[in-house]
Amino acid sequence: MSSDGSRYHAVLPTTTGQLTFCEQIREPMPALSDIAFQTSISPDCAETFDVSQVLSTCPTSHDLLDVEYDWNRVPVPASLNEFEKRWANRHNPLDFSGVWRFRELFPFAPDDQIVTIGEGQTILQQSDAIGKYVGLKHGLLHLQYEGLNPSGSFKDNGMTAASTHARMVGAKVAACASTGNTSASLAIYAGVSGLFKVLVFVGSGKIAYGKLSQALDYGAMTLQIKGDFDDALKQVRDVCQQAGIYLCNSVNPFRLEGQKSIIFRILEGLRWEVPDWIVVPGGNLGNASAFGKALIELKHLGLISELPRLAVINAAGANTLYELYDRRGLRWNGGRPDQTLMDAFYTDMDARNRRANTLASAIEINRPVNLKKCLRALDACQGVVREIADGDILDAKAIIGAGGFGCEPASAASVAGAKLLRQQGVIGASDRVVCILTGHQLKDPDATVGYHAVEESPKLVEKGVTRRVFQNSPVVVENDFDRIMEVVRRMSS
Ligand code: F0G
Repeated sequence: MSSDGSRYHAVLPTTTGQLTFCEQIREPMPALSDIAFQTSISPDCAETFDVSQVLSTCPTSHDLLDVEYDWNRVPVPASLNEFEKRWANRHNPLDFSGVWRFRELFPFAPDDQIVTIGEGQTILQQSDAIGKYVGLKHGLLHLQYEGLNPSGSFKDNGMTAASTHARMVGAKVAACASTGNTSASLAIYAGVSGLFKVLVFVGSGKIAYGKLSQALDYGAMTLQIKGDFDDALKQVRDVCQQAGIYLCNSVNPFRLEGQKSIIFRILEGLRWEVPDWIVVPGGNLGNASAFGKALIELKHLGLISELPRLAVINAAGANTLYELYDRRGLRWNGGRPDQTLMDAFYTDMDARNRRANTLASAIEINRPVNLKKCLRALDACQGVVREIADGDILDAKAIIGAGGFGCEPASAASVAGAKLLRQQGVIGASDRVVCILTGHQLKDPDATVGYHAVEESPKLVEKGVTRRVFQNSPVVVENDFDRIMEVVRRMSS
């Protein structure tokens, strides 16, 4: 915000056809409270709530909330490539951020409230080696490498937005439940900004060490609950409600606004062309939901003319979405998905005490809170859902690693899922496919070492992983020059 209260912002094309977006024309922007508001995802509830309210569900419909905009009053550019002009302006932290340089596409925050740590400097990478594994022709497999974010996962895209909203409402304490990455991300934002304290709830023994170490090192107060993520999330929601603490899980609609930027960067990486497929791992289903919302809005704004297809990939040991969508036919149904079907599924799950169980610990979730929003995304994008066994996830992870894009197991579900869909003929050999690599390889070194180690890892065996097709074990050799040379010669022959 400039000193006179006006804001540099976009304008629509002039009558001469000259685009003037980003030309730093000073015009007063409508007050954000007039153009952004919160509303239920239910078509049966027309209530709206101010962006200054802290809510995680609609008080009337008890459904999830969206942040919506009066797009007629938002100065969005006429074409997405107008955003490229911001690349030149690396001294402005908002233009440097890979999230906020698209801020006209989620205008809920005044510039002077934005909390950014330079997130979203991630790139769309093309890989033929991994494309071959998936079964795609040359040049068609792309990886959106979100592990390059400051905390090492895609969560920073959303946490910059949630932290901004937390600041707007004056929150002093923020909290989340986490399988590890959300907590690492929230802790890093609190640490850098110094704006609020952080409380994280994790399932005891349920998060990878790389992630736990981040929450501890960044100074978050960490509660290890004797239970899993689903238990931790239930607890943190109740605690936040009781204690007036700001909740940063993906039920927070502002977080998902930031995660829309992953889609904007994918399109940017494809020179603003829409791919045939976007493939994303599914846990709490925040990402898939944010992707759907971003794409629906871009189409509404006339910034893209068609939508890609969306594939959401569950781990087989945490497959609620797969069970409900693929096996039982649950659909968005115009915003009225079959509640009885969902209730019966969860009642049965509780009766059997069926807990999520996968080596892909980031997506070890059986009660995805964004289920309904994800159904909306699947509906808009002719979506498909698949489940992948842990062994196939780890094989794909090894191929991704050997291709130079190390990721954690949950991320590799996207590539394993694309391979399965290709085998099934759902994805065609000439389709352009983007897989999201959600978290960095260093997040979960145990899984990687367990896969490649000489000895079988009991943890992997326990999850049914007995075959390690792309195992790359270290070679043990005596501390003797000749023996070492023998090994080196064998390797290079
Ligand atoms: N990949 C990684 C690396 C994750 O950390 C998560 C979620 C997902 C995929 C699934 O994303 O929930 O949007 O479907 N991790 C959360 C956490 C639950 O607490 O860090 P989603």
